[in-house]
Amino acid sequence: MAGTTGKGFYVGMVLGMVMMSSMAASCAANFLQDTELTWGGDRGKVLNGGQLLTLSLDKFSGSGFQSKKQFLFGKIDMDIKLVSGNSAGTVTTFYLSSEGPNHDEIDFEFLGNVSGDPYILHTNVFAQGKGNKEQQFYLWFDPTRNFHKYSIIWKPQHIIFLVDNIPIRVFENEEAKGVPFPKDQAMRMYSSLWNADDWATRGGLVKTDWSKAPFTAYYRNFKATDHFISSSSSSDSFSDSKVQSNEIDANGRRRLRWAQKYFMIYDYCTDLKRFPQGLPPECKRSRF
Ligand SMILES: *[C@@H]1O[C@H](CO)[C@@H](O)[C@H](O)[C@H]1NC(C)=O
Repeated sequence: MAGTTGKGFYVGMVLGMVMMSSMAASCAANFLQDTELTWGGDRGKVLNGGQLLTLSLDKFSGSGFQSKKQFLFGKIDMDIKLVSGNSAGTVTTFYLSSEGPNHDEIDFEFLGNVSGDPYILHTNVFAQGKGNKEQQFYLWFDPTRNFHKYSIIWKPQHIIFLVDNIPIRVFENEEAKGVPFPKDQAMRMYSSLWNADDWATRGGLVKTDWSKAPFTAYYRNFKATDHFISSSSSSDSFSDSKVQSNEIDANGRRRLRWAQKYFMIYDYCTDLKRFPQGLPPECKRSRF
């Protein structure tokens, strides 16, 4: 990898420009260039020259988009403004996933609610096709009023979920205890807005109010800072330096404890009813 100091000074003007533009592309993505709308027809829209993307849901369909590139480790950020008003029954997702039968997945799902009642942020990790590692949270702000940043840091040793740069969950690599960890399959970023009123709101008790459709969620500032990119693209190695500070420091651990203490509403690791034979092995560790 080229050094980050002096880059562009000692090369020709044209080469310097090329390098600068490829750096920019790997840092702040443009929805037109870096993602594609994959379903829902014109319910998904890219606006403002690729700076803003909207998804909508009506009686007939939801919609979704995905990154063109695949990643093997990295940091993925997205600013999202969720469906406002009565969003009961709707689910907005932002996740990483590989393809195929034994797929890996790292999930953020936002479960809507009636006006004034809180969204649930649902998180999960799948490795080798198996999930069942849910943690759920309320948010400390109204996610429908403004954009907020949701991030996934994916490294070989752990996965960190962040909300506005506050770590809310750390999933450690516990392969030593026989727990599969997503680290061998490249993943894409996916996002969608769909109807799940059979389970989303109060466990399915509250149905989608279609008289309020279409429902709309807003996306901007998609960033993918990758360690390694599987689709051969050497220019992206310039963004490596950005990922280096992804460990959690003392302040981060304090914030993590704060989020877990005051906002976590479900943790599979404490759900003894669900695991009568004993909690999964990764749960038997000192928690943060
Ligand atoms: C919706 O609001 C109810 C009542 O406050 C709450 O129990 C529930 O957790 C909220 N969120 C969802 C997604 O059901």
